[in-house]
Amino acid sequence: MMEQVEQLKGQALAEVKAVRDLKQLDELRLKYLGRKGQIKAILRSLGQLPAEQRPQAGQRVNQATQEVQAALESRQAELQRQAEEAKVHSESIDVTLPGRRPAQGVFHPLTQIVNEIIEIFAGLGFDVVTGPEIESDYYNFEALNIPKDHPARDMQDTFYLSEDTVLRTHTSPVQVRYMEVHKPPVRIVSPGRVYRNETADASHLPMFSQVEGLLVDEGIHFGHFKGVLQAFARQMFSPETEVRFRPSFFPFTEPSAEMDIRFGERGDWLEIMGAGMVDPEVFRHVDYDSEKYTGFAFGMGCERIAMLKYGIEDIRLLYDNDVRILEQFR
Ligand code: DAH
Repeated sequence: MMEQVEQLKGQALAEVKAVRDLKQLDELRLKYLGRKGQIKAILRSLGQLPAEQRPQAGQRVNQATQEVQAALESRQAELQRQAEEAKVHSESIDVTLPGRRPAQGVFHPLTQIVNEIIEIFAGLGFDVVTGPEIESDYYNFEALNIPKDHPARDMQDTFYLSEDTVLRTHTSPVQVRYMEVHKPPVRIVSPGRVYRNETADASHLPMFSQVEGLLVDEGIHFGHFKGVLQAFARQMFSPETEVRFRPSFFPFTEPSAEMDIRFGERGDWLEIMGAGMVDPEVFRHVDYDSEKYTGFAFGMGCERIAMLKYGIEDIRLLYDNDVRILEQFR
C-alpha cells in the first residue's frame, strides 16, 4: 500500500514536470486529484486496512496529495508566466523600425502657376479680385465693346445658359464689374475659370483658367504697359527673358497687342498673353473720364504658362488627375 502511494506520487510528479501546457496540466490534476482520481481512489481504499495501520497510511496519502498539489500549482504558475511572456513578445513593437511616411499632398501644378502669377503682380502692387463664372451677356460682351451680332464674338464660341447669360468666356468681365464700383487708381489681377465651346485636344479644353489684369490711373502710357509686362515675364520665366509685342486686335483695347516671349533652346517666340491700352469705349460703360484716365489690360491662359514652364505637351494632362504626373511637381 505504502509503496503504491510512493510510486503513484513519483509518477504524478514526473508527469507534472513534463507537461507543456495548461490544458494538459488540468487533465493531470483530474487524473490524480480529481474526484475519480487515482490518489483519491487509494484514500477510499484505506477503509480496507486494519485499523492500526490506517492513521499512518492516511498521513502518507495526505502528504502525497499535498506534494502533488504543490507541484501542480508551481507548474501552473510557471506555464502561465511562459504564456504571458510569449504573448508580450509576439505583440511587442520594434521601435527601431523606420516609420511609414504619410503621403504628403502638394498644390496642383496649375494652382502653383496661378499662385506664382498672383504673387508677382501682388509684388507690383496689384490686388486680387474675382468674379462670377456665370456671367451676363452685358459684362462678358457688351460692356467690353463686343456688341451683339458683332463678328468679334466669333473669337470665342460660347456656352449660352439663356439669351442673356453665358458661362464667361474670359476673365475680362471682372474689369468692368470692378470699375463700376471703384474709382481710379485701379490695379487688379483676376484669376479664374473660363469656358468656351471647344473640342478637347492637346491644346484646347472647354474649360480653362485665365488671369486678367487691369491698371488705370492718370498718365498711364504704353511705356508703363510694356514695363510691367516685361517685369512679369522676367520674374515668371527668367531674368533674361526677352519679350516682344505684336500688333493685334481686341474690341476692349486700342491699341492691342500679343506679348511673346523668347523661349527654349531654339529661342522660338511664343505668345503668352493678349493685352493693350484700355479702349475709351470700355471707360464710357463704367463712367470713367477717358480724357483724364488711361490704362492697360492683359489676359493670359494659365494652362499655357504651366505647359511652357513645366514642359507639358498636352493640356489634358493637367486635368487627368493622374497622381503619377501630379506628384512630379513638388
Ligand atoms: N480676354 C482676352 C481673351 O480671352 C484676353 C485679353 C486680351 C484680356 C487683351 C485683356 C486684354 O484684358 O487687354 O482672349
